[in-house]
Amino acid sequence: MENILEKIQKELVENINNFKKMILSDTSSDIKKIVVRPILIKNKIMLQIERYRGSKVFHENIELNAIFDLPFSEYNQILIETIGKDIIFSKQKAGYKKKVRENAISQSDINLSHNKQKSYLINEGDNVPAMVDLGIFTKDGKIVKSKYDKFKQINRFIEIIDDVFKSINKDEITILDFGCGKSYLTFLVYYYFVEIKKMKAKIIGYDLKSDVVDRCNEIAKNYGYSGLHFQVNDVKKDKLYNGAIDVIISLHACDTATDFALDYAIKHKIPYIFSVPCCQHEINQTIKKGGDFDLLLNDGLIKERFSALLTDAIRVEILRAKGYDVDVIEFVDFAHSPKNIMLRANLTHKTGSLENIDTLMKKYNFSQKLYELNKK
Ligand SMILES: C[S@@+](CC[C@H](N)C(=O)[O-])C[C@H]1O[C@@H](n2cnc3c(N)ncnc32)[C@H](O)[C@@H]1O
Repeated sequence: MENILEKIQKELVENINNFKKMILSDTSSDIKKIVVRPILIKNKIMLQIERYRGSKVFHENIELNAIFDLPFSEYNQILIETIGKDIIFSKQKAGYKKKVRENAISQSDINLSHNKQKSYLINEGDNVPAMVDLGIFTKDGKIVKSKYDKFKQINRFIEIIDDVFKSINKDEITILDFGCGKSYLTFLVYYYFVEIKKMKAKIIGYDLKSDVVDRCNEIAKNYGYSGLHFQVNDVKKDKLYNGAIDVIISLHACDTATDFALDYAIKHKIPYIFSVPCCQHEINQTIKKGGDFDLLLNDGLIKERFSALLTDAIRVEILRAKGYDVDVIEFVDFAHSPKNIMLRANLTHKTGSLENIDTLMKKYNFSQKLYELNKK
């Protein structure tokens, strides 16, 4: 068999400035997978090696040259990820066959100083089979190019949830997802609590579309996700679920659906809210000139953006008045979604007044659903 080491050397030299990571895999091997990625340690470029044996992962940092000591010829598949293309060597009888395919990796993904922060809770190549059915991962665990932004969004959502829940010890959790749609997030939240946190989770996703709800229930059933359910239901309803609820999530629930999610949390005193609002038409369509901010209403684009910010500011003010501590977080970079504000709230029961909003409302005469649902 020809020398695979020479081939790997050639590819690495040619792609030295574009190299993101390399994965050696072979299911029959004791170490089923070896992942190699460059990493900056004390201003020196090194290589981080992850070796996957059984359910354990072993880490080691090595000098650059030591990459050529890896047992390449013992592995059936060697994948080299570079900016824009994957180079794959697959072992066949006659030797290793090379294939090249496009990928969605950009320069910003291989910024070494960011390498540590870019370790997501769920990573490309992780075994999350539902993600394949949902069309986020390909069969070999790669992120589908057109779903890269969605993958970043849902991973970030999970990171923000993890920030709150890593220090909370609970055995069980119940979560409602308002406007779950294709439910990429819902599945990943379930995976996070059940597979990573090892908790018992009950998660229900609500949406108006019966076809997506049926499909999601089918996928959940296929993977034995017994605590994950989807329901055709209108989130405007006063009562959706009878038991105790710990968390309400919503990701881009259209227009006022976000307000109904927040209102449900307020009325039912749900301890945690993670909500990324979507398009917001109400204030933009109803606001009239009448005060100090009139110059923000002269031009359509500025009016639209001002209205969206005002909508979120009002939601935050109402949540605070109704007993929540609220953080407003940049959810993902603007490039991955322009709807990138998350409202993260936890119930503290410390209430306040809606006086500021009452005053604004009188001056500008707009409608806002969460305010309508909560004013006296
Ligand atoms: C933009 S999609 C977002 C889906 C999903 N959360 C995501 O981020 O991929 C918004 C979803 O909210 C659903 N929706 C809008 N109004 C709703 C309502 N009143 N009750 C239930 N679902 C609603 C829509 O059917 C749609 O699937």
